[in-house]
Amino acid sequence: MKIIVKEAATRRSATTEDDITAEVLRRLEGTPDPRLRQIVLSLVRHLHAFVKEVELTEAEWFQGIQFLTDTGHMCNDIRQEFILLSDTLGVSMVVDLINHRKPEGATESTVFGPFHREGAPEMPAGGNMAFRDKAGTPTIVSGRVLDLQGRPIPGALLDVWQADTTGLYDSQYPDTSELHMRGKYRTDKDGRYLVRTSRPVAYQIPSDGPVGKMLKATNRHAWRPAHIHFVVSADGFEPVTTHIFDSIDKYLVSDAVFAVKDSLICEFARHDTRDGAAARFGLEPPFCTAEFDFVLKPAHGRT
Ligand code: BEZ
Ligand code: FE
Repeated sequence: MKIIVKEAATRRSATTEDDITAEVLRRLEGTPDPRLRQIVLSLVRHLHAFVKEVELTEAEWFQGIQFLTDTGHMCNDIRQEFILLSDTLGVSMVVDLINHRKPEGATESTVFGPFHREGAPEMPAGGNMAFRDKAGTPTIVSGRVLDLQGRPIPGALLDVWQADTTGLYDSQYPDTSELHMRGKYRTDKDGRYLVRTSRPVAYQIPSDGPVGKMLKATNRHAWRPAHIHFVVSADGFEPVTTHIFDSIDKYLVSDAVFAVKDSLICEFARHDTRDGAAARFGLEPPFCTAEFDFVLKPAHGRT
């Protein structure tokens, strides 16, 4: 008892801004899990430095709390506003870049986004995943799935999804739970795949919540350049979550979620006559063709 009293009497309490930071860090020093320790120490250091740098007012602090509360309230089974916040602040792409450092030649990854759904139908080569999207320009996306040495990977799986020509994903229609603009395709013995869809369009990310308010307050738009989502996987290889982007889209340079990488930009060639491609794919013009090869790196530990 005596000792405790003595210690309390001699220890100076944290009184300055920097004292508080040091004291919080001191109390976190004993975190048993080393990774958690590293993360909480760094988080507190950066958080305190930010508050001091901008000299946050109490009103601003409360506004921040309110913003995060509203963000939480906006989340439900099909809406994840925190991930959208992370996406629009570029955090998701920094995490992606750190976690998916690819060897030269491997297809680069990009954000997964909130619109993937399980249960997309298995499609034959050339099967039309845009069967209800009558307003879209029919589009054939084809190419190969290859290893780093350029050898074809037969039986690779391509899980593909996309917004329709009005710029909405199937899950954004309140009146139906049907899957549309989604399909799972397999490569043939030569590593070739063939997807039939609609030419992708630019669309706006959901902006009726706190993220939309943040975009407005910071004078930013909500547009994503036209793209098609892919997860490409094969036994013995690391799966890649990625998009291909339409090379003529005006939002390539200002994607609301910072997800564009040069290597993922692809030309969607428009065909206005009954040319060889029309005969090959059985399509009436106008239609588009795009070619893109995916290159997978070996799974961890394989060469
Ligand atoms: C998407 O492309 O589906 C997406 C990605 C990030 C945020 C919102 C949408
Ligand atoms: Fe998308």
